[in-house]
Amino acid sequence: MREAGGFMNMESEIGRRRTFAIISHPDAGKTTLTEKFLLYGGAVQLAGAVTGKKKDRATASDWMELEKQRGISVSSTVLQFPYDNYCVNLLDTPGHEDFSEDTYRVLTAVDAAIMVIDAAKGIEAQTRKLFEVCRMRGLPIFTFVNKCERPGKGPLALLDEIESVLGLGAYPMNWPMGDGAQFHGLIDRRRRQAHFFEATAGGRHRAAEVSSDLADDALLREKLTDSARTQLLEEIDMLEMAGEEFDRAAVMEGRLTPVFFGSALNNFGVRLLLDDFLALAPAPRSRKVDETAIDPARPEFSGFVFKIQANMDPQHRDRVAFIRICSGRFSRDMSVLHAQSGKKIRLSFAQRVFGRDRETQDEAWPGDVIGIAGNTELGLGDTVTEDPAILYRELPRFPPECFAYLRNEDMRNYKRFRAGLEQMLHEKVVQRFHLAGSADLAPFLGAVGPLQFDVVRFRLESEYRATTRLEPASWTVTRWVGEGVTVDQLGARFLPSGAAVATDDDGRPVMLFADEWNLRYFNDKQPEIPLHEYPPESAPKSLARAAI
Ligand code: G4P
Repeated sequence: MREAGGFMNMESEIGRRRTFAIISHPDAGKTTLTEKFLLYGGAVQLAGAVTGKKKDRATASDWMELEKQRGISVSSTVLQFPYDNYCVNLLDTPGHEDFSEDTYRVLTAVDAAIMVIDAAKGIEAQTRKLFEVCRMRGLPIFTFVNKCERPGKGPLALLDEIESVLGLGAYPMNWPMGDGAQFHGLIDRRRRQAHFFEATAGGRHRAAEVSSDLADDALLREKLTDSARTQLLEEIDMLEMAGEEFDRAAVMEGRLTPVFFGSALNNFGVRLLLDDFLALAPAPRSRKVDETAIDPARPEFSGFVFKIQANMDPQHRDRVAFIRICSGRFSRDMSVLHAQSGKKIRLSFAQRVFGRDRETQDEAWPGDVIGIAGNTELGLGDTVTEDPAILYRELPRFPPECFAYLRNEDMRNYKRFRAGLEQMLHEKVVQRFHLAGSADLAPFLGAVGPLQFDVVRFRLESEYRATTRLEPASWTVTRWVGEGVTVDQLGARFLPSGAAVATDDDGRPVMLFADEWNLRYFNDKQPEIPLHEYPPESAPKSLARAAI
């Protein structure tokens, strides 16, 4: 009986979890939307003051000194809040384009994404990149068209843009009544109700006036001019006549995006988005381990590390490994297998982290994220599990696009410098390479974006008291060389000027090129040498051809 009861509990806990991320181009309104979600979740006390001017606000995720210095968000934070009967896990993705690698990792840990688009700008560069990552993972994507109270491109043009630029079907769940100064509100298509807009930038919880039914349109007549009302009803008719059925299966497979309109700043349309999103988005689903699907309701606990954050609390120098739970129930102090080292580890010091605030976590379920503090063994992508047969391979390595030598400035700090760097390499903050024929006096590092180097330098200084100097190198394209070709064989070949031969930290041969042109030239001259964008075992099938 207890077993059966436990299972029921597990099913219902999984069923009410929604784990997602918000993706957007900087300034589209991701932070504002997050704040409004938190308000609905009643979590705002925890978040501290989250409204007001950007420069003054201290959001929950705004904790790292480097972030403050740069005024950007370089790290991910997990926000968990209850809403209705749901337990919502919102994983923050860094907005800066340098952090695509980091963002990618966060997207491996979610089950759905909300894409925020500025109504006046449409699909911007960073949105597109992030969308591609979601598509590769087959994530269901929901769209929020923000800033509708300002002049925009118009709903039809925006839907068209989603379809043509992203190749993603778009299904409007609601429809804006005008825009700019003439923005009157939204039609909720499914419930056939009109929600009337009133600017409430300060007042957050004011509910909009809602018509009972479009057919009974006394309010519509009162609020809109005759011609605006006629045009609106025509548009709604047109949508209905276009007759596209809402296809939930297509949403689940990431082929169709439900589109919501609104204004995050005015907290308008946010609740409609949140309600429908939670109702339609998937609860945690099975994850593939090779050919086996691991059901989240499987009793054995398992999860993988998708994020490592060091130095979160300036008071306590520490490091937290964030684990996405994929199956089973987590309980405090449980012992699990660390698949990569083969060692048993105790998951003590599990914390729910909310910006600077932390509380001990006693229990968690699939879809949840736990932060394990103080364990230096856990590396990015690692699996922790009660079942030795489970080994997740969710995190591929990305081909670096920038390189630099890192020099220790003061020989007295050498030991600390090495120790700190080894720790960060273990965490995969950056990757290390070894140039063929070089004495390797200074570590030669590769990163997807230069900001990753800044993180290394910042942490070496603040955590290890080692000051460093960075000497950028000019390669921008990395390719792993196919099996069977050795570094010596490569060295004996003709290399175009600007190309170099190296190995990664696991001894695999790598070629570095100055630019894409350089790479093509090499390929044309020596097509028999197979080059790969990813090191062999880290490229999931879906990533084989993709680049972000
Ligand atoms: P991000 O996290 O995606 O980078 O965007 P963020 O929420 O910080 O919003 C970017 C800017 O857009 C902010 O203005 C914010 O107030 C504004 N904004 C967000 N939602 C809406 C909306 O629905 N309508 C309008 N008109 N503006 C919106 P800012 O001037 O950069 O900052 P602040 O000084 O106003 O805080």
